[in-house]
Amino acid sequence: MSAQTINFTPELYAYYQRLGFHELPLLKTLREETHKLGNIYAQQISPEQGQFMALLVELLGAKKTLDIGTFTGYSALVVALALPLDGKVIACDVNTEWTSIAKKFWQAGNVANKIDLRIGPATDTLQQLINAGEAGSFDFAFIDADKSGYDNYYEKSLILLRSGGLIAIDNVLWGGDVADLSVNDGSTKAIRALNEKIFKDDRVKISMIPIGDGLTLARKK
Ligand SMILES: C[S@@+](CC[C@H](N)C(=O)[O-])C[C@H]1O[C@@H](n2cnc3c(N)ncnc32)[C@H](O)[C@@H]1O
Repeated sequence: MSAQTINFTPELYAYYQRLGFHELPLLKTLREETHKLGNIYAQQISPEQGQFMALLVELLGAKKTLDIGTFTGYSALVVALALPLDGKVIACDVNTEWTSIAKKFWQAGNVANKIDLRIGPATDTLQQLINAGEAGSFDFAFIDADKSGYDNYYEKSLILLRSGGLIAIDNVLWGGDVADLSVNDGSTKAIRALNEKIFKDDRVKISMIPIGDGLTLARKK
């Protein structure tokens, strides 16, 4: 009865959103506040993806995590709420305006002490962590910043993760453009190339999940 992933009609998606996950009121308010920014709100992850990531973090027993591309802070917040009291999120972004909204919500959720926001190019932040001797010590990484940097974030996350740790890479289906060969802009090509690379990468075990805009889970062997 289910040899392939189901297509969502609007009615089925409404049903899924009603019964498929729980979203804390604070997270819903953050989505509403982000909507006020206009079209760029679409950079935010969906609530179902947030809930899924929180569950993964709990299942992993994660304590140290990376949030690569923080925006208004939804992914960092949902992960921080799922971490134990001594858990940590290193949040990477270049934008202080969007992350000032994030900081407000992290305070409201009583998790600001768990989130260490590093403003600057994520590749520099990740390299600083490697240089500081933190290789092999992270449990979970979420990659959701500029697509041209994805390959670099993937490689550095692999160094920073412990064996058995998990990388979640967002936007791997890129609104369907990965399969439309008439689309050849830089971001699309970068995502396509990384998808091909990860598929053949025997350092990880993978599953590409059709949630949100596509989320690849890559578990470090
Ligand atoms: C898709 S949004 C992240 C959404 C976020 N994960 C959430 O749950 O709402 C991408 C973010 O990456 C940031 N970004 C872009 N280039 C970056 C870079 N080189 N280093 C770090 N962050 C970057 C942008 O400022 C933006 O906030």
